[in-house]
Amino acid sequence: MEIKNICCIGAGYVGGPTMAIISYKCPNIQVEVVDNNEDRVNQWNSENFDNLPIYEPGLAKIVKKCRGKNLYFSTSVENSIRKADMIFISVNTPTKKKGIGAGMASDLKWVEACARLVANYAEGHTIVVEKSTIPVRTAEVIKSILEGSDHSTNKIKNSTYEVLSNPEFLAEGTAINDLLYPDRVLIGGENEKAIMSLSNIYSNWVPKEKIIHTNIWSSELAKLTANAFLAQRISSINSVGALCEATGADVREVARAIGSDSRIGSKFLNAGPGFGGSCFKKDILNLVYLSRYFGLPEVADFWEGVVKLNSWHQHRISKLVVQKLFGTVTGKKILILGFAFKANTNDTRESASIKICKDLIEEGALLFIHDPKVSSKQIKADLQIDEDIYLKSKSESQITHAEGGWCAIETITSSIDNADAIVILTEWKEYFDIDWETIATKMRRPAWIFDARSVLKDENISNFGLNFWRVGDGSKNNISNLLEN
Ligand code: NAD
Ligand code: UDX
Repeated sequence: MEIKNICCIGAGYVGGPTMAIISYKCPNIQVEVVDNNEDRVNQWNSENFDNLPIYEPGLAKIVKKCRGKNLYFSTSVENSIRKADMIFISVNTPTKKKGIGAGMASDLKWVEACARLVANYAEGHTIVVEKSTIPVRTAEVIKSILEGSDHSTNKIKNSTYEVLSNPEFLAEGTAINDLLYPDRVLIGGENEKAIMSLSNIYSNWVPKEKIIHTNIWSSELAKLTANAFLAQRISSINSVGALCEATGADVREVARAIGSDSRIGSKFLNAGPGFGGSCFKKDILNLVYLSRYFGLPEVADFWEGVVKLNSWHQHRISKLVVQKLFGTVTGKKILILGFAFKANTNDTRESASIKICKDLIEEGALLFIHDPKVSSKQIKADLQIDEDIYLKSKSESQITHAEGGWCAIETITSSIDNADAIVILTEWKEYFDIDWETIATKMRRPAWIFDARSVLKDENISNFGLNFWRVGDGSKNNISNLLEN
């Protein structure tokens, strides 16, 4: 079946960039991305390409090339479904907040709503593609809504369906590159013709050997498992980092040593402030829930450990900051560098910065938060604490203000006066080249630099009389003291 019209429900971090690439690589296909969030759709349609709702390197350029030609963003969900030969469901699947499985299982209400919309409006033969990350066997739910709910409507509309699973593996910040040069494209399904229709779209730019076909359940489960394996590596290296700090080893050296074993590999071995992002935690918790549901508590406990370690590690960092600043941060000025969950994205979902900042504010610290892409509105929404206007107005002089609070800052130099510490939580490129000599003259002594992303060079800091802590680096610790303690 040749696909001429695609509808993608969900103009988010996945739907937007994925459809931009499909339209770019397949000029003969009309691609419409629909969303019921009008603001988001307006942002996708904004005249100024700097105002797209998602920041991804290279994305604006591609949207500029295709928008209005064969790429459209709209709120007319029903119309778009009617026209489409293939419909991607790319809506959010967050962890359930209440009811059965709360805090663990994925909330499928948005996926189910999409299936019902498709059942109501699709005409002729339609291939429905699960792009969202969903629990294994969700295709069954979608199918039964599409086929089972109302035979008579389907007959009148002459509607038939095929359901495929095509999970997305892009990472934020590198989405365009990941989509253009994927390690693999995974397509799970039962019907060979439907699988080939989707395969043919990808084969416009992805080598055939990288397009993997599996049964639908393997495809659904492979997505959850891929994220679980990646997150597990981060918890593993962060746990080793804590041990390095206690024993005089350096986690970067350990990572290099173990990563050069080709069976282990060097990627995803950077110790940091703990993994964030919208996917890892939610997908592992979903795996934990499914394992328990299928009567495999040991499997569930194994994966739950990855999330527990991550949370412990994030609190470990905030505790360590307090300890190094003589056991109290009340009324102390601390610059936080980076609020996004990783560099090159404006996404803050599950960012380690949220937990660490909340902890420090709770301890009474005065936080001056810098991030090149995250707005103060977003920080406020994440911390659920209003921005402290007093702090903002006093950012250049001494503050006599003891309560915990935060404000957003535009530049580091304008707010550094009398700061007690700087904590680097996101690896933004600009933090690699800070002028430490100038910074050092302005901070209150003894001053501390906490580098949770290993972006700084030791000598650049210590030469200017600043105390320096780096995640997973125990090489400067006096081990005999540590053992005595
Ligand atoms: P998102 O929250 O950025 O976007 C989802 C969009 O769907 C929202 O704009 C929302 O308004 C829209 N939506 C929800 N219900 C709708 C409906 N009934 N009709 C029309 N629009 C509707 O989410 P995202 O980050 O793009 O993630 C989407 C899915 O992809 C999730 O399942 C996620 O786990 C998965 N995923 C995400 C990433 C990532 O890096 N963000 C990577 C791989 C997979
Ligand atoms: C992840 C998966 O990588 C991607 O395949 C999937 O489709 C969605 O989830 P994403 O969350 O966007 O992508 O970013 P990723 O690069 O995986 O980083 C996740 C978190 O782990 C970030 O907080 C990052 O800083 C952290 N991380 C990553 C580390 O702390 N160390 C590393 O070595 C790698």
